[in-house]
Amino acid sequence: MKKTHLLPLVLLIGTVLLVAGTIDLTNLYNYANQGKPAYINKDNTPVANPITDARATLGRVLFYDKKLSANNSIACASCHIQAFAFSDTAVQSIGLDGGLTGRHSMRLVNARYGTSPSFFWDERSPTLEHQVTQPIQDHVEMGFGGFGGQPDMDSLIRKMNTVSYYPQLFQFAFGSPQITEAKMQQALAQFVRSIQSFDSKFDIGRAQVQGQGMPFPNFTANENAGKQIFMHVNGPGTPGCQTCHRMPEFDIDPLSLNNGVIGKAGDQAGLDLANTRAPSLRNLFNPSGSLNSPMMHTGSFTTIQQVIEHYNLIPQNPANTNLDPRLNGPGGNLQLTALQKTQLADFLRTLTGVDVFTNPKWSDPFDANGNITILGLNSSIYQSTPEKFTVFPNPASEYISLKLPEGRYNIHMYGINGQLLYSGTAEASDRIDLPGFASGFITIQAVNQSSGWMYQAKFIKK
Ligand code: HEC
Ligand code: HEC
Repeated sequence: MKKTHLLPLVLLIGTVLLVAGTIDLTNLYNYANQGKPAYINKDNTPVANPITDARATLGRVLFYDKKLSANNSIACASCHIQAFAFSDTAVQSIGLDGGLTGRHSMRLVNARYGTSPSFFWDERSPTLEHQVTQPIQDHVEMGFGGFGGQPDMDSLIRKMNTVSYYPQLFQFAFGSPQITEAKMQQALAQFVRSIQSFDSKFDIGRAQVQGQGMPFPNFTANENAGKQIFMHVNGPGTPGCQTCHRMPEFDIDPLSLNNGVIGKAGDQAGLDLANTRAPSLRNLFNPSGSLNSPMMHTGSFTTIQQVIEHYNLIPQNPANTNLDPRLNGPGGNLQLTALQKTQLADFLRTLTGVDVFTNPKWSDPFDANGNITILGLNSSIYQSTPEKFTVFPNPASEYISLKLPEGRYNIHMYGINGQLLYSGTAEASDRIDLPGFASGFITIQAVNQSSGWMYQAKFIKK
């Protein structure tokens, strides 16, 4: 009895393992041409960095790779979780040494579809390209900032050079195995921009009418009334939530000042007046109807009712010198009835899609052990096989001899933690002395000076 049950189980596990942890470069997901509804017009993609499937695929690997943190424990995806619209359920996210982020993590859905070029709650990054490597350098988040004894970006790049798949993936995406921060910025920004969501109840309704102010046929009466409140809180002709969270992208008005939420995450008595940006209000809720994460930079609002009560009566605090004037004055007390509050909440629930939470193109490409297999590489471009590059003797003590295809090479050797041990040039069959090298595994890379092809091998220093 036992045996007959065991076999199918083993087969099943085998199949799952094959799929998880694999990227097939001959069969990429579509990131470049996903399309968008005709009524979506705002787009912050720079001319210099349009999405390609190859570069967004590299961006996906970078986004999920814990090796991008100094102690291999944190990836972007640790704080930006697909199941929660790429936000975090924690008020403050945990960084590499257990430290907490100063603000709540932001949802990363439809980051592309807005006119404000700046990112972060306080808009301190002038572009998404600039933003995406900031967390890597942040001392709390991923720890490659080069401050206070932490390693710097150059050490990260040296480390990545020893990770078998990175030179290959950079070769595939950019035509050269050289890893640079600028290329990482392009690839990560492309992956983040690719994360989009236009399959909500709002979108189904919007597609059926001429203008967004018209009642949507698929909406309940309350949802349509909530849409009117969102657009014009105090009736036709007056501004609503929409002056700052602009339909149909629900992106933030670049001129918005703060909205009266001025505490610090984890310290409500503290003052943090600088927050003038919100991610798109789409997908505040997940498809099951619960909120993806606490809201605002403070993460202090855990129900949509709290948000609506906040806007209904903005707290007046003389210390807040950066309150948006649209919320200061008569608009600061909306005097919504209980029914109107429910209607507004009902409308905000229509902004949730399904695909973005589950589509594998945005999911973790690593397996449970943190391994990844890259299928479909052109082996003539990148060679790590012993037939093309041999290092001997192995183990080595005083020196190594190289055996490479004809040509002249730039040689780099790295220790087990990615530290650079040696750099120089060599002929195809040169001998290199190893003075003062500590014993252990050493990765050696040889880049052909004329073709740019890279060869990699490992040996043991006795
Ligand atoms: C330790 C948690 C953590 C990690 C790791 C992390 N983030 Fe974030 N992310 C945050 C927090 C917190 C914010 C908001 C911070 C602020 O505004 O001061 C944020 C904001 C962002 C934003 C701004 C969104 C917007 O609409 O303005 C982007 C984009 C982003 N992160 C991408 C990334 C990428 C890419 C990585 C990996 C390279 C990453 N994050 C790693 C926590 C994290
Ligand atoms: C004057 C501009 C402005 C107006 C008007 C405005 N907001 Fe906001 N909203 C913001 C800003 C800025 C933030 C980010 C605040 C922060 O975290 O410090 C924000 C944040 C939010 C968030 C949290 C988003 C998140 O990702 O956590 C929600 C929800 C929200 N607003 C809903 C509304 C609703 C509903 C209305 C209308 C009743 C409204 N807003 C009116 C500027 C505005």
